[in-house]
Amino acid sequence: GKSGYDHYMLKEIHEQPTAIRQCLHERVVELEREIAVDSVASLSVPDRVQLVACGTSYHAALYGTRLLRERGVPATAFLASEYDVDAVPVDRETLVIGVTQSGETADTMTALREANSVGATTLAVTNVVGSSAARECDRAMYVRAGPEIGVAATKTFVSQQIALVVLASELTGEYDVDLVGALRDLPGQLQSVLDDSRARTVAEEYLDADAYFFIGRSYNAPVALEGALKMKEITYKHAEGFAAGELKHGPLALVTDRTPVFALVTEGANPTKTIGNVKEVETRGAPVVAVTDGCSDVERYADFVLEVPETHPALAPVLANVQLQLVSYWVANDLGRSIDKPRNLAKSVTVE
Ligand code: M6R
Repeated sequence: GKSGYDHYMLKEIHEQPTAIRQCLHERVVELEREIAVDSVASLSVPDRVQLVACGTSYHAALYGTRLLRERGVPATAFLASEYDVDAVPVDRETLVIGVTQSGETADTMTALREANSVGATTLAVTNVVGSSAARECDRAMYVRAGPEIGVAATKTFVSQQIALVVLASELTGEYDVDLVGALRDLPGQLQSVLDDSRARTVAEEYLDADAYFFIGRSYNAPVALEGALKMKEITYKHAEGFAAGELKHGPLALVTDRTPVFALVTEGANPTKTIGNVKEVETRGAPVVAVTDGCSDVERYADFVLEVPETHPALAPVLANVQLQLVSYWVANDLGRSIDKPRNLAKSVTVE
């Protein structure tokens, strides 16, 4: 059941601290400052990594590429539906990772089969034990979010992010001590975001908006995309997310006083440059909602601030994303939408 929540989505948003703990269990041994993932322990550092995924899982994959590149591994994320179309070069030295909550998404399965057919090493990062992706791939790493009922992916996205953090560390042997410590604190910090969030107030304030924009750089760029996807799918309102630098290459023309802009501004993700973009939209009368860890003076330009606790720069987007989930949830709730089963959408997309 929904355990007293009005929707599975809200319940699952609140299950995220637990989802993180489950994902880390026996993988991150804080005392020994060590990360160990059985399913990939014997893999050598790959020449290159390709991540294939759809939708929200693609946003997790984009986040994963950054974690890997930071550790010196060339990594690229592909929309699974474009993988064959793009004629991506793939060979035996490539590790292809399918990021798929359900493990049943048709496009992702097609991409993984193609990778297997040319002899690449394949790994499924999935939530479902024994799913098609888990069976198709050479290896499987389970994200352990527990069953997700809401069509909107929430806790599985967080679990994918955490799984990719530990995977990137394990694959490369780079155990960042600060990151390990920050992982330990993350569930409690996420809980504090849930307890203290002002997302409901923000949602009410901008319920009549024409459109919602989401901007962020670096680690936060995938979260900007994810914030917009969540907003679209459960509220049916127009939303766009993009890397903040793209703003002046087109989208700025859409910005008015009826298009709130959510700016992700956290330590280590080029806050100064993103504040530059914030000023550009503020000048044009757009309401600004800053999702920030207090690393800058962005609140001077913001109409609302949604705070996240300070953490390791690589984990800030995990917390920032939760604020965006809550904003979308409350907008959808206040508009009376069918939150757990949005129109036209299915939980598992088993046709190409
Ligand atoms: O099961 P998968 O992770 O492969 O699903 C991929 C997408 O269909 C999925 O992430 C979808 O975008 C979300 N349900 C949206 O919230």
